[in-house]
Amino acid sequence: MDELIEAAKEALTQAYAPYSGYPVGAAVEDERGRIHRGCNVENVSFPAGLCAERVAVGAMVADGGRHVRGLAVVTRDGGTPCGCCLQVLMEFSDLDKTKIFLVGSSGSVKTFSLRELLPHGFSSKLV
Ligand code: THU
Repeated sequence: MDELIEAAKEALTQAYAPYSGYPVGAAVEDERGRIHRGCNVENVSFPAGLCAERVAVGAMVADGGRHVRGLAVVTRDGGTPCGCCLQVLMEFSDLDKTKIFLVGSSGSVKTFSLRELLPHGFSSKLV
């Protein structure tokens, strides 16, 4: 957990958030124990901006990881990932086993399962 949170804190320092002023750092640990970082990447065309969690999951997939054991997200207020990020996380996670650590700038850590944060995420037999 500590290593994952440290990685998310490092990612936070790279956040590109000139429009919202709300930097976000994320890190995921995959099934091999590898850690992948992400930060939010905003754009002057606001909807083109990327959330930190999805950047981290994308980095994991690009590196060959297919399962998230844990996710750490660092923000100034310990905020919860948006619904879209939770849905993307669900694709590569276990609803009960994957651990989600939400960290605030005071160092507070709250731990959740994906089921707690996204109890009724979209699922389809098509996929
Ligand atoms: N943001 C994230 O990176 N992750 C989330 O789950 C919620 C929001 C970013 C998007 C935007 O750059 C900034 O936080 C303010 O919404």
